[in-house]
Amino acid sequence: MSDALQRLRHWKAKFAIILGSGLNAIVQDPIDSVEYAEFPALPKPRVPGHAGKFSLCEISGVRIIFAQGRVHLYEGYSAGEVTANVRMLANGGIEKLVVTNAAGALNQKFKTGDWMMINDHLNLTGTSPLIGGPEFLDLSDAYSPRLQKQFRDAAQKIGVFLHQGVYAAVIGPQYETAAEVRMLQDLGADVVGMSTVLEVILARALEMEVAGFSCIANSATGLSSTRLSHDEVLETGRKAAKDFSRVLGEALPRL
Ligand code: HPA
Repeated sequence: MSDALQRLRHWKAKFAIILGSGLNAIVQDPIDSVEYAEFPALPKPRVPGHAGKFSLCEISGVRIIFAQGRVHLYEGYSAGEVTANVRMLANGGIEKLVVTNAAGALNQKFKTGDWMMINDHLNLTGTSPLIGGPEFLDLSDAYSPRLQKQFRDAAQKIGVFLHQGVYAAVIGPQYETAAEVRMLQDLGADVVGMSTVLEVILARALEMEVAGFSCIANSATGLSSTRLSHDEVLETGRKAAKDFSRVLGEALPRL
């Protein structure tokens, strides 16, 4: 076993949280960190706002590992490479995984800076980390009903509002046309983004319990009168990080 993997295992965390664009502010006072560069199997993030390390932290007395930075299909990586972080976390002893992302709102009730707990997804990326498996995985409860209830209760207790809905994953990197936004709405999606679902599929195949959260970074293009920039997505993430930290602090000891 590599030295880096041993350091992950040694922390004995059961929980990991993958952080999306601009959400690094959620990580506070890490006790240790392990750079992705120390794992030959892990591709390195190239997009601004994505660090490349595992941070070992304790929140409300619970040991967790934050995966700061992920790679995306739109960077030219394969489904296997995009999910290498999940495989590494599973090897590191993680049993429960929280995935987060910055997403564009399709549901007109959602406002920038709100959080949506993902209760289901549409994988429109055209690929899967299970290709070559062969594995016919049941995804009917991909997002753990138990974890959803615990997070819902925790958020309600501290007065942080969580929307609930469906995350549609597209390959990107371009944002959506107005026609694509209408299509995604018709398909039943509430938010759209370029990550997360492949990680969830592999995590379920590895029998992890999964919860997912989208930070609403913007109204999906076509719904907004202003032009969308990656800087805007990052800035919104930084502000919303505070709310999510509070939810984690309340929820983690119950899970
Ligand atoms: N569309 C797709 N991905 C995104 C968006 C969006 O509007 N915002 C953040 N990630």
